[in-house]
Amino acid sequence: MKRAVCPGSFDPITFGHIDIIERASEQFDEVVVAVLANRTKASLFSVEERMEMIRQTTSHFKNVKVDSWHGLLVDYCKANSIQAIVKGLRAVTDFDYELQMAQVNLQGSGVETMFMATAPAHSFLSSSIVKELAHFGGDVSSMVPGIVNDALKARVAGK
Ligand code: PNS
Repeated sequence: MKRAVCPGSFDPITFGHIDIIERASEQFDEVVVAVLANRTKASLFSVEERMEMIRQTTSHFKNVKVDSWHGLLVDYCKANSIQAIVKGLRAVTDFDYELQMAQVNLQGSGVETMFMATAPAHSFLSSSIVKELAHFGGDVSSMVPGIVNDALKARVAGK
């Protein structure tokens, strides 16, 4: 069985993430969307809240599961017999850091990273941009699913 992981902070999940998850699910027998800690970012939503939003917005993909992990991504891959990490690349600005992580993960464990080109419609989209817009009352309804939009509005309103 060919298994891949789509890792990320998903704080929160966007249409850009969902596009990559869908396309990965067409290439692998099983795809796990794993919420991991990115130590360089402060989060708006708890891990459980993020997982629930991912569950609700990816449940129509039958070979996609949702999980979380506190530790190295390669250790998660080893513990779950996952052969490949799938990452979306939006622009050349993503490339340096992603290449570095892919090389560290390959050298340390032999886990391959496969990069998928983000669909042009999502090339500017990131969770950080979505949070910034939402914080100042901007309309992000074209960037995230409805339940995520609602959760952002509630969080910004202090709920
Ligand atoms: O969505 P993000 O924030 O770009 O995702 C980055 C993430 C969470 C995938 C990355 O920070 C990660 O893999 N964290 C787990 C710890 C780890 O394995 N770090 C890489 C070692 S170089």
